[in-house]
Amino acid sequence: METICWKVDEDEQLQNHPYIIEAAKYLSHGKTVAFPTETVYGLGADATDEQAVQAIFDAKGRPADNPLIVHVGSRDVVEQYVTHISAKAQQLIDAFWPGALTIIFPSKGGLASNVTAGLTTVGVRMPDHPVALALLQEAAIPIAAPSANSSGKPSPTSHEHVLQDLNSKIYGVVDGGQTGVGVESTVIDCTLDVPMILRPGGVTQREIEAVIGDVDLAPSLVKGDDAPRSPGMKYKHYAPDCPIWVVSGNSYHMREVIEQQQSEGKRVGLMISDERAEELDLATDLSLGSRDNLTEVTRRLYHTLRKVDTLQYDVVLAESFSKAEIGEALMNRLEKAATKII
Ligand code: TXA
Ligand code: MG
Repeated sequence: METICWKVDEDEQLQNHPYIIEAAKYLSHGKTVAFPTETVYGLGADATDEQAVQAIFDAKGRPADNPLIVHVGSRDVVEQYVTHISAKAQQLIDAFWPGALTIIFPSKGGLASNVTAGLTTVGVRMPDHPVALALLQEAAIPIAAPSANSSGKPSPTSHEHVLQDLNSKIYGVVDGGQTGVGVESTVIDCTLDVPMILRPGGVTQREIEAVIGDVDLAPSLVKGDDAPRSPGMKYKHYAPDCPIWVVSGNSYHMREVIEQQQSEGKRVGLMISDERAEELDLATDLSLGSRDNLTEVTRRLYHTLRKVDTLQYDVVLAESFSKAEIGEALMNRLEKAATKII
């Protein structure tokens, strides 16, 4: 089965758009459909339909113990799926929905049990993308949607990425162009008295704290937490096939590493900013844009990681960026993709 591709333009009138109606019909009939959100493309299915949700896990090769985010088309439907909305959770909804923030609530049930992987909590988000919202509103069901990549690949930021991984494994994909944020939503657990960020993402810690005050960070995210940074295991999640080393420090340090690797006969790729390329006086086919614009660097990250696998490098050296603001999510994903941090 070829995957159907519906191309829509986000400037079009999307309400009652024939392609949106058709894609929504597939979703209501238990089929898997990928669609753009403001963060990355999601692979959607009816969150109340166990079999439909299973088809997501099968297409992605996703481990069954990793719960899915439920996407909703309006703020108020969240009440149908959760037992309690804390005051802080409500403030976050008011401030950031629609947007790149997934909130973990105590679950009320009524969703397929594989959506939450057997947990008593559920993650919900209302995406800020005209295509996603039109589709969710037309389908009028909660849509479970992880990122629309094969497990272990970078999340898709265009419909081409979705098809690279999932062509003929899913029913359809709505092509709404390139996504804006480029990394996934921030995940925050609001079942705790002090909410805890489980995954940094499109909404920054500072933006969240400006609304609800101090939050905690999941222990695995805390700086100085001496989690092993050895190759393999821990950072496998987003990794391309070619090893990626994040090189901290200035361009002198990076030059040393380049020369050392080249002296061993290795072909060295450089995933660096325009400024770093200039400092090194080297051209690169893996440019991340200007480091003065980390929003743009973040937007380009996953596309560039996918490009690594199409080039013949033995090792790719990546620049280490500031972890301030969106840099926190950027560096989190880059370090996960890396086999080494030096
Ligand atoms: O931006 C995004 O969040 C994208 C778009 C498609 O919305 N979705 C996405 O989904 O990134 P996924 O499945 O790739 O990542 C969901 C993350 C996982 O880390 C999962 O463990 C966590 O959210 N999660 C989901 N439900 C949870 C729960 N009840 N408790 C703790 N973590 C949860
Ligand atoms: Mg994912």
